Amino acid sequence: MAAPDTAPLWTALEALPRPTLAQLFGDAARLDRYVTVLDLPGGPIRFDWSKTHLSPEVEGVLGDIGAAVDLDASREALFAGALINNTEGRAATHMAERGVGNPAAAEEAERFHERMQALVEVIHEGLLGEVKSLIHIGIGGSALGPALAIDALAREDAKVAVHVVSNVDAAALAAATAKCDPATTMIAVASKTFTTTETLMNATSALDWLREGGVEDPYGRVVALTAAPEKAVAWGVDETRVLPFAETVGGRYSLWSSIGFPIALALGWDGFAAFLAGAAAIDHHFLEAPAAENVVIRAAFADLYYTQARRCASRAVFAYDERLALLPSYLQQLEMESNGKRVTAQGAPLPRPSAPVTWGGVGTDAQHAVFQLLHQGTHLIPVDFLAVSVPGHDFDPAHHRTLLANCFAQGAALMAGKPGPDDMARDYPGDRPSATILCDELGAATLGSLIAFHEHRTFVSAMMLGINPFDQFGVELGKAIAKSIETGGASFDASTEALLEAAGIGR
Ligand code: F6P
Repeated sequence: MAAPDTAPLWTALEALPRPTLAQLFGDAARLDRYVTVLDLPGGPIRFDWSKTHLSPEVEGVLGDIGAAVDLDASREALFAGALINNTEGRAATHMAERGVGNPAAAEEAERFHERMQALVEVIHEGLLGEVKSLIHIGIGGSALGPALAIDALAREDAKVAVHVVSNVDAAALAAATAKCDPATTMIAVASKTFTTTETLMNATSALDWLREGGVEDPYGRVVALTAAPEKAVAWGVDETRVLPFAETVGGRYSLWSSIGFPIALALGWDGFAAFLAGAAAIDHHFLEAPAAENVVIRAAFADLYYTQARRCASRAVFAYDERLALLPSYLQQLEMESNGKRVTAQGAPLPRPSAPVTWGGVGTDAQHAVFQLLHQGTHLIPVDFLAVSVPGHDFDPAHHRTLLANCFAQGAALMAGKPGPDDMARDYPGDRPSATILCDELGAATLGSLIAFHEHRTFVSAMMLGINPFDQFGVELGKAIAKSIETGGASFDASTEALLEAAGIGR
């Protein structure tokens, strides 16, 4: 079926009048319309999109585009387990890991979770000997989610200390092993495909480290987390230590599956179950809430408005909570690997910008480093602020008051601006958009909700643009060239040849 022609609607979106935020705030109903507090398993989360340029007119045109591309049908197809990843002929069943959507996929996910829970409990009960540390080896989607969740939720009181290693630069492995004792350490090898060079190289070196540390049967300490169990067994992992997950769970959507093993090991199974429940609640909201109240659709509409109508090439995310410091890098993979495409799902050139560059950092640090550009630079960059009402520490509450005051001050300052007295260098133009997500407490359920919110937000943008967010062919060329350098024989451009020679590798 030919893709609907949405070009006139996108043009109409660009042509809409552009009231300022101050003008939009003239509407007394603005907060009612653009601030939604969802009552979620981990406590309420406030989604405040009022300081964006969303308006009934903007939403009207985006709603028309949604109707033209049949966003509702895509959403249903996603949850039903249709082959929505058309270029790879697969469904995308990460919601099934949370018990939502396609029943057969949810049943399979439950079986895999039972297997994972059993292993987690065996380890906690000490039946595999004393286990104090886990070195989790994976990269991309097999590492970023576990790293985020462990850093957010298990800074203290982890049942097992988890160290995530991703980079093929063995300095990362060296840093992890320096904190562990081979006698009490297990290794998780996390790879959906079980073919990823970095992961297998790090895993081999970790086994050497165990062996050199006096462990007689290093493979006996390895758990494999993979959608290719036969490859893990062929590599040497005992079949009983392989925790499979479904091929239909994409790498950057996989932390709900057995890729989340380190999260369950650190938090305990109840914590992992709460994480899934928090995500499931957002699945239901996304599926069931009418568009006007749907925080996922609203966020995606704002993203699309800025990328498409205002031609913003990036969006920034600042976590005003040290525990969420890794969230911007997690979202970078989620959004850029999903929606950084130049063709539609049908393979036609995409006539519009696709994903903006996602970047960000942690507040208040970023204020003293990059906020200058947000306030006075020439780029318009929509910002998301994330904050948590209850602090994650017992120090003087003044710390947290100051942290939150700064977070809210930035949103207010970006919007209001301030005319410079008679000096343009001190002039703040204002009218710069931001959204704020305020959580009550940061527990496993809340983190699950936050991540699922961003997954579906990314999905909505993809459907509106007509792209497939579930493949990532763009990463393959560089991998193939790196391999051909290592195997030798291939020749490259003069610059690359000179670099190889200067570094003395592969020639
Ligand atoms: O190279 C990109 C990528 O395929 C990601 O999509 C994925 O999350 C990562 O590599 C790791 O892949 P795997 O889990 O198969 O090792």
